[in-house]
Amino acid sequence: INNIKVFFFFLLRKMSKIQLKFPKGFLWGAASSAYQTEGGNTNSDWWAWEHSQKRMEALKKQGKEPLNYMSGIACDSYNRFDEDFALAEHLSHNAIRIGVEWSRIEPKEGVFDEDVLDHYEKMLQSAKFHGLQIFLTLHHYTNPIWFVKKGGFLKTKNISFFVDYAHHVVERLGQYVDFWVTINEPEIYATQGYALGIFPPQEKNLFKCFKVINNLIESHKQISAVIKIHSSKPVSLALNLLDFQPSGFLGEVAVRLMRYIINGYIMRRTLDYCDYIGMNYYFHHHLSWFGLRKHSHENHEKTDRGWGIHPEGLERVLLSLKKYEKPVYILENGLADAADSRREKFIKDHLYYLHCAIAKGVDVRGYLHWSLTDNFEWEEGFWPRFGLIEVDREDLLRRKVRYSATKYAEICK
Ligand code: FCB
Repeated sequence: INNIKVFFFFLLRKMSKIQLKFPKGFLWGAASSAYQTEGGNTNSDWWAWEHSQKRMEALKKQGKEPLNYMSGIACDSYNRFDEDFALAEHLSHNAIRIGVEWSRIEPKEGVFDEDVLDHYEKMLQSAKFHGLQIFLTLHHYTNPIWFVKKGGFLKTKNISFFVDYAHHVVERLGQYVDFWVTINEPEIYATQGYALGIFPPQEKNLFKCFKVINNLIESHKQISAVIKIHSSKPVSLALNLLDFQPSGFLGEVAVRLMRYIINGYIMRRTLDYCDYIGMNYYFHHHLSWFGLRKHSHENHEKTDRGWGIHPEGLERVLLSLKKYEKPVYILENGLADAADSRREKFIKDHLYYLHCAIAKGVDVRGYLHWSLTDNFEWEEGFWPRFGLIEVDREDLLRRKVRYSATKYAEICK
């Protein structure tokens, strides 16, 4: 009966212009990270990598100007956070995902910078002042240089440094936080940095990659225990969940396997230490025979970064989470679209399929678009434009609200 109801609901929606209703208290907003927006994070391993001889030579070889691939002042959000949060409020957001930068808070081992913690307190107060519920990320790809010199997350004994830092943040800033996000995309951090050689430290070693993933899992468990003691607010990680679609019978086997391993490994091991499921959604893969042949639909629309646009995959991923019986928050979903010609449709389509998942019983409670403003897109530099708000790099980083942001604002409202 439920399926029939759902079928007629969608039929009706297709035929008319009826509005979709989202659950009461649904959170609407955008996400960002500290390093990608703040600027001036000179004590971070990413900063060191961006300025390294190796990186600069590699860029020059590709005919690229190294300056365009250095985070530098980024969006200067370290100073302009209030302006950014005011814009989020103006766009009817009621939530925001932001981060704090470990290398700023603890620039030297065991030395916690009180001025920086005061700064972050002001930042969180400002978000509250603008009516935003706060998702706070503790680790989003970047580390202090001293931590990396000790071997970073390759060494199990280093976990305690991360936990210690998290402990400081939770005690000092916990009163302002509504949702904790311990680690952003541990699987991406580990594969990009230790298997594929793209992020620093640019290693290509599967064993190291696996070691880092396991140490991050352990870190999450320990930090969630700290949070349980010092904060009453829910905790999770932000996992990058992929949509897999099969081609033929063997494709089905491949899809199950990939879902189990790629989407499931960290999830299964951390689920007991998460109060909600935090997920980022960007990618779709079409698989045939055991994943050995992988193809994205060539004729599908693509973002400026060349990533295929598959909104329907979001529903499939969400439905696969139903069995865990936990609230789900989309902590990132977005596209690089400098012309702003696809963003409005992208958002509406993804929200449509998100709503389908809700109608089928998945407890989704929030959607945070990536990103509030254009920012530093890691190894790609500044050219990919993910922002609801443009940051004009030719004009003193002036913020300019994109048309799609105003359409998203109507939905938020
Ligand atoms: C996600 C990252 C985020 C941003 C988007 C485009 O995987 O978490 O920092 O780079 O991709």
